Amino acid sequence: MRKKITVIGAGNVGATAAHWAVVRGLGDVVLLDVVEGVPQGKALDLWQSGPVENFSWSVKGSNDYADSAGSDIVIITAGLARKPGMSRDDLLAKNVAIVKTCTEEAVKHSPDCVLIVVTNPIDAMVYTSFKVSGFPRNRVIGMAGVLDSARYRTFLAGAIGVAPMDVNAMVMGIHGDNMLPLVRLANVAGVPITDLLSEDQIKEIVKRTQMGGIEIVNHLKTGSAFYSPGLSAIEMAEAIVKDTKRVLPCAAYLEGEFGISGCFLGVPVVLGDKGVERIIEFTLTDEEKAALNESVAAVQNQMAATGL
Ligand code: LAC
Repeated sequence: MRKKITVIGAGNVGATAAHWAVVRGLGDVVLLDVVEGVPQGKALDLWQSGPVENFSWSVKGSNDYADSAGSDIVIITAGLARKPGMSRDDLLAKNVAIVKTCTEEAVKHSPDCVLIVVTNPIDAMVYTSFKVSGFPRNRVIGMAGVLDSARYRTFLAGAIGVAPMDVNAMVMGIHGDNMLPLVRLANVAGVPITDLLSEDQIKEIVKRTQMGGIEIVNHLKTGSAFYSPGLSAIEMAEAIVKDTKRVLPCAAYLEGEFGISGCFLGVPVVLGDKGVERIIEFTLTDEEKAALNESVAAVQNQMAATGL
């Protein structure tokens, strides 16, 4: 049976996600936005690439949530993006209202879907979606770990001079300045990065990863990154739709894992057709625990600011 993926928000991230959804063969795609014409135009353009890209999925643009009915996955990208000088938290109040509406409408028409939240600040927005949807925790997931880890892996690969896919490295915690790029476990085909780079080089890469989003905002000036964020959401959606059990870092709702409860945080999870099928716990060093606790404090501040 064909799967159905709805992407809410036809901006750069949403349109990129829709593009990768058909290229990766996930299923029929609905691109939704409140702005009239934009989702229709982008969807029509994307649909017309089918004969060249060799896909047979339908791609529909709409302003009406009824068109999203029966989706297996709903990806929420709608909301304001950052401009230079803004932190992700500056977006919070406006984006809470947007994500609330998107979630209410999405779950009304697709009560069995898995929600993937991309809107910033992601950890607070995925919490908003979790609260508003009333869904179990396995069906509400935040994107960010895949993106942040991709940035970390890219920078490591560049410095070491190897292919990025051979760099195994994970970023845990908040999608914000306190994120935790794990050094101890990062490796190139099993070889620890600490054997391949100096302490200073690693420090610089960790910092650049933590500031990965704003580096791009400062270049673009009118918005934030979209190629990697859009694709990262699809990496997660693909694991769910195809039930691959991939292990990807995602923002999941913790209930005691890593000694943390009651908040979303980037952790390694197993993704399958139920959404988050398992959170993979492992022993952290005291230093890593302390860093993760800084993420928790920052996420809790954001959660309080949502008023939910
Ligand atoms: C970034 C945005 C998606 O990190 O937060 O580029």
